[in-house]
Amino acid sequence: MKIGVLGTGMVGTALATRLAAAGHEVRMGAREATNESATKWASGRKNASNGTFEDAARFGEIVVNATGGTVSLEVLKQAGAKNLAGKVLIDVANPLDFSKGYPRLSVCNDDSLGEQIQRAYPEARVVKALNTLNADLMLDPNGLGTTDHALFMAGDDAAAKSTVRELLQSFGWKQIHDVGGISGARGMEMMLIGWLGAMKAVGNARFNWKVVTPA
Ligand SMILES: NC(=O)c1ccc[n+]([C@@H]2O[C@H](COP(=O)([O-])OP(=O)(O)OC[C@H]3O[C@@H](n4cnc5c(N)ncnc54)[C@H](OP(=O)(O)O)[C@@H]3O)[C@@H](O)[C@H]2O)c1
Repeated sequence: MKIGVLGTGMVGTALATRLAAAGHEVRMGAREATNESATKWASGRKNASNGTFEDAARFGEIVVNATGGTVSLEVLKQAGAKNLAGKVLIDVANPLDFSKGYPRLSVCNDDSLGEQIQRAYPEARVVKALNTLNADLMLDPNGLGTTDHALFMAGDDAAAKSTVRELLQSFGWKQIHDVGGISGARGMEMMLIGWLGAMKAVGNARFNWKVVTPA
């Protein structure tokens, strides 16, 4: 499948690397077509290319938003509404704001970044997913030595969620909890404040959420 990954940070790089290694054709997008990280990532790599956010969105049958939550709407504007229309848009971003010296969310409670994106791009089929765990584990559930841990997804388009579920299952994910429509992104994004607290307790980022129900 052709996948456009918007973002050159650790998430964009981790996702693009695993997607390309699994045989998907991946184009990584940045503000500039000459972006150093993206160019280095694509150089000599099978199934890999890079370009602007617009190039990557146009290329992808699926588009992944792996950019900072406070700049995602600007990134998607650069990607272009026509390049997102009708496509599954996996939103991995968290609207984290560290400007006050502690982690808070720039949008929360009665709205979320996932919903803001869906409202701004009504023709995109937004699925919030993968935002609740560390980049290295997103497409490597076995990285924890077990697949008995949880992912969540939210979105208004059932077919888009099925596509995302199948993609995630192809990487070994077993526990994928559908929390409902895109307003479910509120809870998924708020989990990040808890995740940051848990990281302090664990001492590193290699952990994940687990949902336990009665046996
Ligand atoms: N780190 C994790 O393990 C983790 C886990 C779950 C979710 N997340 C979420 O995943 C997202 C990506 O995180 P990250 O650390 O990989 O990347 P990041 O540093 O948050 O974002 C990198 C991307 O943002 C773009 N960008 C920065 N400022 C911009 C601006 N003013 N206008 C337009 N684009 C701008 C950059 O463009 P250029 O390429 O042009 O520089 C780059 O592609 C975040 O929302 C984060 O909260 C992270």
